[in-house]
Amino acid sequence: MIVSGKAKVAGVMGWPVGHSRSPRLHGFWLDRYGVDGAYVPLSVPPERAAEAIRALPALGFRGCNVTVPHKEVAAATVDRLDDSARRAGAVNTVVVLEDGTLEGRNTDGFGFLENLKAGARGWRADAGPAVVVGAGGAARAIVAALLDDGAPEVLLVNRTRERAEQLAADIGGGVRVLDWVSRETALAEAALLVNTTTQGMAGHPPLDLSLERLPASAVVTDIVYTPLMTPLLHDAHARGNRVVDGVGMLLHQARPGFAAWFGVEPEVTEELRRFVLGA
Ligand code: ATR
Repeated sequence: MIVSGKAKVAGVMGWPVGHSRSPRLHGFWLDRYGVDGAYVPLSVPPERAAEAIRALPALGFRGCNVTVPHKEVAAATVDRLDDSARRAGAVNTVVVLEDGTLEGRNTDGFGFLENLKAGARGWRADAGPAVVVGAGGAARAIVAALLDDGAPEVLLVNRTRERAEQLAADIGGGVRVLDWVSRETALAEAALLVNTTTQGMAGHPPLDLSLERLPASAVVTDIVYTPLMTPLLHDAHARGNRVVDGVGMLLHQARPGFAAWFGVEPEVTEELRRFVLGA
């Protein structure tokens, strides 16, 4: 794609940003929809993140994605947060509005739900309790999204219990915190099991969790997508549970940003998935 002088510009801000698949993902869509636009990696160190975000309107950017470790700084820097960002306490999508002010959004929860709904046909948040493992930034957006979408309860287990309690307090209702040692007992009630920790990622040990008590009807998903089939998903699939891999969350969370910056509602397709994974 040739970029003209009038091209709409957005990007992804991170540190490091070199491993981000977002430029490939948005680049695919720009090409597919014939948009005169560009989506670039923005390599910004932590001490300059606020300054870089504030400079977006001056540079004529439509906005940007924000990734590790800038999501909280972005939430503190933008002029306004939408509900999703306020609830998650973090921003992954910045939109420069018509008047030049900055709106922060968090589309991780949206991406998570859309991926589940696409990957496990008929799955509904109100089917029963969800067990969420981990209490980091990703867990926050996922727990809020599940409750907002109708999950009757989220059972939250984290190695460090205080972090789970803090998350539950911030969310304000609907979350039951269980001890790490009780994590396998919690599974007996689960309609959904989500891993939000880094366990199972290439180079990390598998998540230490026996699925023995998990009902056969439960859906299992992982936000880790390197490898696509984590040990957790592999085990779940082997015992007959439906599994949804994590790369779809990355693809779906990108949709609202693309629509806001470039004016086209993009589609997540098998071709896109293969293209992004092929990086
Ligand atoms: P984020 O970027 O999402 O905020 P993070 O702060 O690195 O990520 O958190 C990752 C999650 O993985 C946390 O829930 C962490 O548990 P702690 O709060 O106890 O640190 C979890 N995690 C990391 N290593 C783990 C391990 N070996 N066993 C269990 N959980 C682990």
